[in-house]
Amino acid sequence: MIFSGTVKSKLPNTGTTIFSVMTALAQEHKSINLAQGFPDFACSKELISLVNKYMVKGLNQYAPMPGVMKLRERIAEKTEKLYGAKFDPDKEITITPGGTHAIYAAISAVVGEGDEVVVLEPCYDSYVPAISLNGAKAVFYELKYPDYKVDWEEVKKLINFKTRMIMINTPHNPTGAILTDQDMLKLQKILDNTDVIVLSDEVYEHIIFDKQIHQSVARFPKLSERSIIISSFGKTYHTTGWKMGYVLAPENITKEIRKVHQFMAFSANTPIQYALADYLENEAAYLSLGQFYEEKRNYFQKLVRGSNFKILPCHGSYFQLLNYAKITQERDIEFAARLTKEHKIASIPTSVFYHKNNDNNVLRFCFAKENETLEKAAEQLMKV
Ligand SMILES: Cc1ncc(COP(=O)(O)O)c(C=O)c1O
Repeated sequence: MIFSGTVKSKLPNTGTTIFSVMTALAQEHKSINLAQGFPDFACSKELISLVNKYMVKGLNQYAPMPGVMKLRERIAEKTEKLYGAKFDPDKEITITPGGTHAIYAAISAVVGEGDEVVVLEPCYDSYVPAISLNGAKAVFYELKYPDYKVDWEEVKKLINFKTRMIMINTPHNPTGAILTDQDMLKLQKILDNTDVIVLSDEVYEHIIFDKQIHQSVARFPKLSERSIIISSFGKTYHTTGWKMGYVLAPENITKEIRKVHQFMAFSANTPIQYALADYLENEAAYLSLGQFYEEKRNYFQKLVRGSNFKILPCHGSYFQLLNYAKITQERDIEFAARLTKEHKIASIPTSVFYHKNNDNNVLRFCFAKENETLEKAAEQLMKV
C-alpha cells in the first residue's frame, strides 16, 4: 500500500541503518554476525528473576515519568562512588528507554533551529539525525585514522556564537579509543566563557581496558556543570533488547530533558527499573565488566594475529577495528558485503560513521560474543 499524497521526508538522506542491513545480510548468508553491537551470551539469571519477581508482584503499570526513585537513588550512589560527583536523584537523574532515547531527548531539549552542534566523527549513527530533526546543523571534527585522537585546538576553531552543544563519546564506538584526563581538561578549557553544553555519551563506561580509568565528565566539576551524561544498562548488563538507560544533567537542563522525554515515552519499563535498582547493589557485576571484555578482546586479537588484517588499538568498548588494506583496495562497504557473502563474516564498514563516508579500509567487529563464536569468526578471517 502506498499513500497517494506527498510525504516530505525529514531525513531524505537516511536509509535503513547499516546495522539492520548487515544483520539481514548475515542472516541471508548464514554468516557469523560480528556486525551489530550486542552480546550473543545470556544476561544474569539473577537479574531475570528480579524482573520476574517484580512482574509477579504486580508492578506492571506506568513508572513515574523521571523513573523509579529507588533506581535513581542507586544510580546517584554509584556515580558518587565511582566519579566523586553528587547528582540529586529527584532533580538531576532521569531513567529512559535506552541510551538512544536519552540522546534524542537531550538534543531536542536544548538544541534548535539555527544552532550548531560539534560532532566528533566517526560517531554513533543516531547523533546527526537527532541534530537535523531539531533544525540544527552538525559541524564535524574528524578523528583521524589510525589513533583517532582529538586535537582540541582544532575543535576550538569550530566553536562560535551559534554552537549550542559538543558531543563526545568515551569509550568510543566504533574506534575503541578513550578520552584521557588531559582530554577532559583541554575540553574544559576550550569551553570556558562559552554557553556550550557537553553531551557525553558514556554508555561503555565500564568497558575499559589495560588498567585505564574511565574519565567521566562527572569527575570534572567545571565540565559536569555544563554536561549531559548518557548511560545504558543494555551495555552494562548484556541486555541491549531491554532498552534501558539514564541521563544525568544539571537541574535546569534535566527539567527541559524531562519535558521532551514525557512526550516521547513518558516513562521506562517499570519491573525492569525495580530489578535494576536491586541488581545495582551487586557492584562486582559492573566492576568486573572491564576485565570480562578485556579477555574477549585479547582472545579475539590472539585468534586473528598472523592474518592479513591489521589489528588497530582497542582501549575500550566491545569493538575491534581491523584494517584490510593488505588484502584489497575495495571500498569498505563492498568488502564488508563480500566478506559476509563469501567468507560468512558480517562486520560494519567504518565509512558509515562519517558524513563524507571516509574510507580507511577499516571494518568494525563486535567481540561481545561467546569464545566459540569468536573462534569460528577468526577461522574465517584467517583464510582471507
Ligand atoms: C555510542 C553509543 N551510544 C548510545 C548507544 C545506544 O544505547 P541503547 O542501546 O541503550 O539505546 C549505543 C548503542 O550501540 C552506542 O554504541
